[in-house]
Amino acid sequence: MEDERENTNSYVFDPESAAEMARLINQERQLTQAMGGVFTEVPNVAELRNVLDVACGPGGWTLDVAFAYPQIEVAGIDISRTMIDYANARARTQQLTNASFGVMDITQPLDFSDGAFDMVNARFLFAALHRDAWEPFLQECTRILRPGGILRLTEPLDIGLSNSPALERLSTLLYRGLWRAGYSFSADGNSVGMTQVLPRFLRKAGYEQVSLRGYGLDSSADTDNWADGYRNAQVAYQQLMPLLIKAGGASQEEVEQLYQRMQIEMHDSNYSCIWHYESVTGRKPDA
Ligand SMILES: C[S@@+](CC[C@H](N)C(=O)[O-])C[C@H]1O[C@@H](n2cnc3c(N)ncnc32)[C@H](O)[C@@H]1O
Repeated sequence: MEDERENTNSYVFDPESAAEMARLINQERQLTQAMGGVFTEVPNVAELRNVLDVACGPGGWTLDVAFAYPQIEVAGIDISRTMIDYANARARTQQLTNASFGVMDITQPLDFSDGAFDMVNARFLFAALHRDAWEPFLQECTRILRPGGILRLTEPLDIGLSNSPALERLSTLLYRGLWRAGYSFSADGNSVGMTQVLPRFLRKAGYEQVSLRGYGLDSSADTDNWADGYRNAQVAYQQLMPLLIKAGGASQEEVEQLYQRMQIEMHDSNYSCIWHYESVTGRKPDA
């Protein structure tokens, strides 16, 4: 498998960018809504006391947990100082004393003691972890979970299936770009390449009761999600242009034209788009 990686910075977006933070604020809200709440597929929610949200971004999921479950102490970690400062400020203004946030790099050993958490949650690490970082990352998650603790990983199957030819072409370039840059377990660079391997990874790491749950987020022209989906695509593909050109194999001119056409096609009254993603949940065995 090709791998054109050149540096160790593992997030494909700029984690300190205000535009990226605004994109994540909307995306987090949409994802949680489409998942039907914060703890879908999580057994025995009443027993949760200490929960960790990995790569928490601006803290949307973490703060929703803290608000809905005052008995739970929920921590969020992220590599971005900008995201963490924003999340801490929101916890303070909402007086959520059971939420805390800190800067941490999830490609390194995590600064938590063994068995510290009842649940570890992570969403959309496909563009944050290179494929060879997944195994050590899962080992760290397992170490910091207590016996019987729950690991839930949510990753996309696609980045939106649409009837916009430009958006479809950009998706294809992105899958290929990620794959060639060292992300994704795709066989050929033609898919996100995450959800097919995660259940096996969890079973290999000893998890029990591994379950799958799929979701769909409809952001077609006639839905309330359209505007957020449009802004997400605008901000994401603007940032991703260098990756699409370098690892995706397209020319700058082609990518710029696709970007313009994507914005026009997404304004069509027949524009249709569904984003699919899946949670894989497992239970760490009792000691
Ligand atoms: C992985 S997504 C998570 C989105 C969000 N948690 C959600 O639920 O939709 C984006 C976040 O990952 C963070 N991130 C990327 N690489 C990271 C790393 N190596 N360690 C910690 N956080 C990282 C980025 O700073 C960004 O805030």
